[in-house]
Amino acid sequence: MKKSYIVILSAALFGWASCHRTPDTPTPTTPTVETLEVPQPSYFPAMVYDLKSNPLTTDGFQLGRSLFYDGILSRNGTIACGTCHQQAAAFTHHGHDLSHGIDDKIGMRNAPAIQNMAWEKDFLWDGGVHQLDLFPMAPIENPVEMDEKLSNVLQKLRDSKNPNYPELFKKAFGTTEINTERFTKALSQFMLFLVSNNSRYDLYLKGSTNAITATEKEGLAVFKQKCATCHASELFTDHSFRNNGLDMARSTDQGRFRITQNPDDLYKFKVPSLRNVSYTSPYMHDGRFTTLEQVLDHYAKNAKQSATLDPILQQATPAGIPLTDDEKLKIIAFLKTLSDDSFVKDWRFSDPGFGKSF
Ligand code: HEC
Ligand code: HEC
Repeated sequence: MKKSYIVILSAALFGWASCHRTPDTPTPTTPTVETLEVPQPSYFPAMVYDLKSNPLTTDGFQLGRSLFYDGILSRNGTIACGTCHQQAAAFTHHGHDLSHGIDDKIGMRNAPAIQNMAWEKDFLWDGGVHQLDLFPMAPIENPVEMDEKLSNVLQKLRDSKNPNYPELFKKAFGTTEINTERFTKALSQFMLFLVSNNSRYDLYLKGSTNAITATEKEGLAVFKQKCATCHASELFTDHSFRNNGLDMARSTDQGRFRITQNPDDLYKFKVPSLRNVSYTSPYMHDGRFTTLEQVLDHYAKNAKQSATLDPILQQATPAGIPLTDDEKLKIIAFLKTLSDDSFVKDWRFSDPGFGKSF
């Protein structure tokens, strides 16, 4: 009885809705370790990330949060992960078609949303990384993103007094040792907890039939018929790589081909989730469209024929997905029900304020 009282009290104090104590698994230095559970909505597919390999704790998450928002990860201290992945824009780079990194250098692609990462099996638009824990090396060592060596980052963290990273690592992992594994696991803990499942559409799925309007329901029906083969499941992606007919004349980005060198993969990109899509403009791997209207016009009348164009878009003549103006409006109305206001405003995911990037 008394124990559960403490659990409720501490949860209330820290605002952690989904954490609980694990009194049976103490560690030597953190006997009051609080575990965090990544929510698993019943209507999501099975999780891909093996949480047993990196059990989430409040302290691990908080460490990851500090690291995510700290420019110390970049060569000159100016660029944090959170510079290009901004919460208000569902962790995309608001207003940038291609992301901007160190010394205002322009990146190659549009920054995708960071949400529901525990369900993702390949990362990047071309699927070049398969493990979330291996991910941070890519932006850190990228000359147009953070342009730093991981070994330098670890050394700067060991030397850091404000925040006192050795102390934060001790809280999270039991000792002050700072190594690659702990560093990346803490960042993963932060990203894994960024679960978006609280949009009006989610309320609808949970049984509130009136959470979305009649027009939005009609939009959902058209979406299921014309879009959901690729934007599949309640995550709105089948996690495959496909060519959706973008005009590649203005681009040198060969997509999935960069990774596989297989000509069948030319210009194929990962099907993105559409959750929070009203916050994540601009759209596509190069941010070429700023509005959902433009996206739907693309599918309806501007899809480009090419050797690797997806067969689904080849069924119509001319290529694409035939859509009436009424259907476009309804689809857009539906897509807006995927906005999760609580996700973009959740203070637990926000900049803790002692990073040096802003
Ligand atoms: C300069 C801007 C920039 C910075 C800084 C940056 N990112 Fe990104 N991020 C991007 C872009 C652009 C992509 C897509 C790149 C691609 O597909 O080639 C991306 C992709 C990702 C993805 C893959 C998401 C998916 O669905 O495939 C994750 C995860 C991620 N970033 C996490 C991080 C973390 C963690 C950091 C800090 C260590 C970070 N990013 C720093 C711009 C940035
Ligand atoms: C053949 C598979 C396929 C079909 C069908 C499809 N899409 Fe896509 N969609 C993709 C791929 C692949 C991308 C990413 C392409 C890129 O960036 O190069 C994408 C990107 C998008 C984006 C941009 C998201 C972002 O974050 O940048 C939106 C919005 C979108 N699709 C909506 C729709 C709608 C609405 C429909 C139905 C009218 C639809 N899609 C049908 C494969 C598909």
